[in-house]
Amino acid sequence: MRAIVPRPSSINGREAPITPISNFDVDASAFAQVIGKPFLAIASETPADSGARERLLDEAFGAARSGKTAERLRAGRLPAQGLALAAKDAGKLIGSLRMWHILAGEVSALLLGPLAAAKAYRSRGLGRRLMGEALFRAARAGHKAVLLVGDAAYYEPFGFSRRHTLGLVLPGPVDEARFLGLELKGGALQAARGVVVAAGARDLPAYRGAIEFRRAA
Ligand SMILES: CC(C)(COP(=O)(O)OP(=O)(O)OC[C@H]1O[C@@H](n2cnc3c(N)ncnc32)[C@H](O)[C@@H]1OP(=O)(O)O)[C@@H](O)C(=O)NCCC(=O)NCCS
Repeated sequence: MRAIVPRPSSINGREAPITPISNFDVDASAFAQVIGKPFLAIASETPADSGARERLLDEAFGAARSGKTAERLRAGRLPAQGLALAAKDAGKLIGSLRMWHILAGEVSALLLGPLAAAKAYRSRGLGRRLMGEALFRAARAGHKAVLLVGDAAYYEPFGFSRRHTLGLVLPGPVDEARFLGLELKGGALQAARGVVVAAGARDLPAYRGAIEFRRAA
């Protein structure tokens, strides 16, 4: 199976205006059922979505989510610009996916996750549409590589592979089979060696909170 290659669609040989969703070349079976079936809206998350997003993530991952190694790369940081997505049905948040700046050794990349869909909406293509939109936006913004920790069975159809992360180490324990990478630009992760570190802008309120917490402890 070939990896998906996100790119704008074209009309009569001319590049079409970029709109979210449905403008992929679909080489992955993962997308087959979902293109052309818009049953919901996916857009950039707003500050007003944060409460519903946190409730959704608690429901999807449980309380242990804050102890995950990937969380060390996200805590106290802002997600990458334009890459925090909220899926909504009639205004109600039903899906979430965010991406974060990291350094994979010396290579600038994104960390994808967490990805979650509300239970009542699962197995209808929502996860795939969030993935498609996020990867399309990342490629359009010029990002060259994406890493994640997740189930290969779900992420391989999008082109993610363990072979891209063999030279990399996460800052904590992880099941290595779940540590996957995707090159949006061919060869982007070829020279990636060493530890993965957070590189996103500081989320100042959270950062101040963490400092105050440490001082009080
Ligand atoms: C993973 C998740 C986001 C998928 O959302 P979704 O909207 O149901 O995804 P899609 O409809 O695009 O795909 C559903 C398919 O993926 C499969 N799938 C879901 N999670 C999977 C996983 N962890 N590994 C392998 N396959 C998985 C489902 O079985 C389903 O298969 P089917 O179409 O043959 O029934 C959702 O199940 C969820 O929120 N799970 C809890 C949080 C989580 O585990 N997130 C990270 C995944 S590693």
